[in-house]
Amino acid sequence: MRLLVVGSGGREHVLAWQLVRDAASHNLHAAPGNPGIASLGTCHPLEATDIASLAQLAEQLAIDLTVVGPEIPLANGLTDAFHARGLRIFGPTRDAARIESSKVFAKTFLRRHGIAAAEFEVFDNPVAALAFVRRQKRPLVIKADGLAAGKGVVVAADVHEAERAVLDMMIRKVYGASGERVVIEDRLEGREVSVLVFVSGRNVFPLLPAQDYKRALDSDRGANTGGMGAIAPARVSLADLAQVVDEIIEPVASAMVDEGYPYTGVLYAGLMLTADGPMVLEFNCRFGDPEAQVILPLLEGDLAGAMIDTLEGRDPHLSWSDGAAVCVVVASDGYPGRHPTGIPIQIADAVPGTLILHAGTQVQGGRLATAGGRVLNVVGMGDSIVEARARAYVGVATVTFEGMHYRTDIGLSAAAEAAREGARVS
Ligand code: AMP
Ligand code: GLY
Repeated sequence: MRLLVVGSGGREHVLAWQLVRDAASHNLHAAPGNPGIASLGTCHPLEATDIASLAQLAEQLAIDLTVVGPEIPLANGLTDAFHARGLRIFGPTRDAARIESSKVFAKTFLRRHGIAAAEFEVFDNPVAALAFVRRQKRPLVIKADGLAAGKGVVVAADVHEAERAVLDMMIRKVYGASGERVVIEDRLEGREVSVLVFVSGRNVFPLLPAQDYKRALDSDRGANTGGMGAIAPARVSLADLAQVVDEIIEPVASAMVDEGYPYTGVLYAGLMLTADGPMVLEFNCRFGDPEAQVILPLLEGDLAGAMIDTLEGRDPHLSWSDGAAVCVVVASDGYPGRHPTGIPIQIADAVPGTLILHAGTQVQGGRLATAGGRVLNVVGMGDSIVEARARAYVGVATVTFEGMHYRTDIGLSAAAEAAREGARVS
């Protein structure tokens, strides 16, 4: 099979790795890809947002399946353009991708269908938004309507922070047009979990649940980032998972069919497990990053085959290893703020059970160097979360570059809980 992966980060690297892992006969292409993906297939220097050129490339290469990493091309109609040329692609149409690309669309859709989520109001007038914020006694979350690279959400500690968020988004326009409209919603309390599912119309097939770590520093301190690590499977009860699928995911998929924009591809539900049951924080129209880096290594069997089965309305029969995976993101000095690039990277010999994924790297003068904030994703795999975590940090120790930083507590509390439970069982 001829496969094309769209995107250039760690998520796309793990997709490429998993797509060719058990099927050496697959022929892998990526656009634009990265130096890690280049060791698995052919990288083509096209931007992930260049829809016309991507469709042309897929046609020229006679690609059998295109898999899309990032949300922006989906929100801009990449899937629609592929469908118009009769090309097979795993990702939603522009209309279906609104579940991520417009928070107002997503929130009103959830309200219309009675799906559990925080209460909210929508504002396109900053004066009304400020008056609302000042009247509220409850803790609030302010969200820019449009895409903001995962940054357009402020969980406000108090009314002053909420006011500042409204001013930043609506007046100072720090997220550009994305913040001209905002959603203001109640803050939910609980444990967060990411549940990703393959969807084709009304049919949904859950992947293993995952947890990501959004803050820059240990113990969930510091600034919000695109993600500093992840674990899978997340520690979620089967009862909670069943409730998520029955009361959130399946009704959402069916309602999208009923409203005339059936979803296809992977749907990501960011959930809060509250005292009143699971509630939706957000949907994404793509794999999570870095959730994909821990979910996909645990998938057994042929990923491309599972995606094609899903697209064609068959059960993909997803099966999973009993083990666990832990991903530690190794970031540049200063990330998520300003950070240098072009810093040389050394990676020592591979460690068994460890995968080094490229997220923000480049080859400069024949040498590997940093090219972004999140540079490498080190994934440890093992029979247990304890073993996976140990391997991930052994893997991190094989990486060196000036100013590198990473969290030391990825999977720590899950490993401690697992160890306590093990002690109770024995
Ligand atoms: P989002 O981009 O909507 O997922 O929001 C980013 C992060 O903000 C989430 O992963 C949560 O940690 C937090 N968040 C979003 N909405 C809420 C909410 N209603 N209550 C508490 N935290 C939230
Ligand atoms: N890990 C969060 C996201 O991919 O949006």
